[in-house]
Amino acid sequence: MSENGDVSGNGKMRAVVARGYGGPKVLRLEEVARPRPGKGEVLIEVRAAGINPLDWRLRRGEMRLLTRFKRTRVLGRDVAGVIAATGDDVEGFHAGDKVYAMLGGVFGGGYAEYVAVGADAVAPMPEKLSFEEAAGVPLAALTALRALREALSEVKENVPHACDAGALERRQVLINGASGGVGTFAVQLAKIFGADVTAVCGARNAGFVREIGAARVIDYDEEDFASGEETYDVIFDVVANRSYRACKRVLRPGGVYVTTEPGPRQFASQILTMPDDTQARVVLAKPSGDDLSMLGTLLDAGRLRVVLDRVYPLEEAAEAHAHGEAGNGTGKIVLSVRL
Ligand SMILES: NC(=O)c1ccc[n+]([C@@H]2O[C@H](COP(=O)([O-])OP(=O)(O)OC[C@H]3O[C@@H](n4cnc5c(N)ncnc54)[C@H](OP(=O)(O)O)[C@@H]3O)[C@@H](O)[C@H]2O)c1
Repeated sequence: MSENGDVSGNGKMRAVVARGYGGPKVLRLEEVARPRPGKGEVLIEVRAAGINPLDWRLRRGEMRLLTRFKRTRVLGRDVAGVIAATGDDVEGFHAGDKVYAMLGGVFGGGYAEYVAVGADAVAPMPEKLSFEEAAGVPLAALTALRALREALSEVKENVPHACDAGALERRQVLINGASGGVGTFAVQLAKIFGADVTAVCGARNAGFVREIGAARVIDYDEEDFASGEETYDVIFDVVANRSYRACKRVLRPGGVYVTTEPGPRQFASQILTMPDDTQARVVLAKPSGDDLSMLGTLLDAGRLRVVLDRVYPLEEAAEAHAHGEAGNGTGKIVLSVRL
């Protein structure tokens, strides 16, 4: 393997490793081997890493079937940083480029000073964003984009995967969990695609979700949207605390219920509703450099905003997890990495 770029040092790096399962204290800052970029990969010097609920679910041991045999237990699916080196067969990226990416694999590996990632998952970092802001984008925004595309391909024939402005024109879209990482991008993207957006969130975030594009807000403590009179073309259940069955009566004919919760009940609904008028869909986030480039254009144009809750230094990953799990913030929590 050849490597292009200068990565000096002792071949080690600092990373936050999950030692066993449990509370935030299982996260330890350790010195580990620095990865090298393989064929088709770039090595990113990480400047900021985003935190997602997936990270603390993995840390708590909620996905042991997936994590049991994994030796490298560095969490983190979102990174923004600078390319330190490129592996063979990488085109379009060079050492020194500012980039952001969603990492694949079970744990991801982003809470670290360096990470190697396939170049097809990487995109140029939006020019107007800081590293911390850019690290708050990938997984949450890619999830929102995929979910809306999935819904769009069902509600609007002939534009299967288009995501142009106007593609959801005059459609009623409800986002359950609108003030969170995924929800804030979903509200903004649905608005960009022309939808009329109803946001479900806590009362303290009502003003904020209106500001980013919601036409109506439902406080989940005051009202159950699934029992209301309003009907929707798309229900994006980000929080996944309502089932397709519970939502069916407020779905319009041809409407779609999309969730990000990949449980057996959700997959069963997806299969069982295939021949029906209204549909249930499960969406899983997938790394995509192309989609990140498209989102970057919207971010640079000021049409899409990333909302940061708090930034913690890498060494305080445990505190950052505790803050996220408490659920009192608004927007993304990010780790800042200083070499
Ligand atoms: N399958 C996938 O690929 C995938 C990808 C990304 C995320 N996810 C999953 O999606 C979920 C949300 O992720 P996230 O990053 O958006 O989380 P987050 O940033 O923690 O946001 C969660 C949001 O849920 C809202 N909420 C809490 N209780 C609610 C209720 N009873 N009704 C409606 N909303 C409620 C909160 O609103 P308030 O703060 O206003 O109370 C908060 O804004 C997580 O479970 C995550 O694991 C899955």
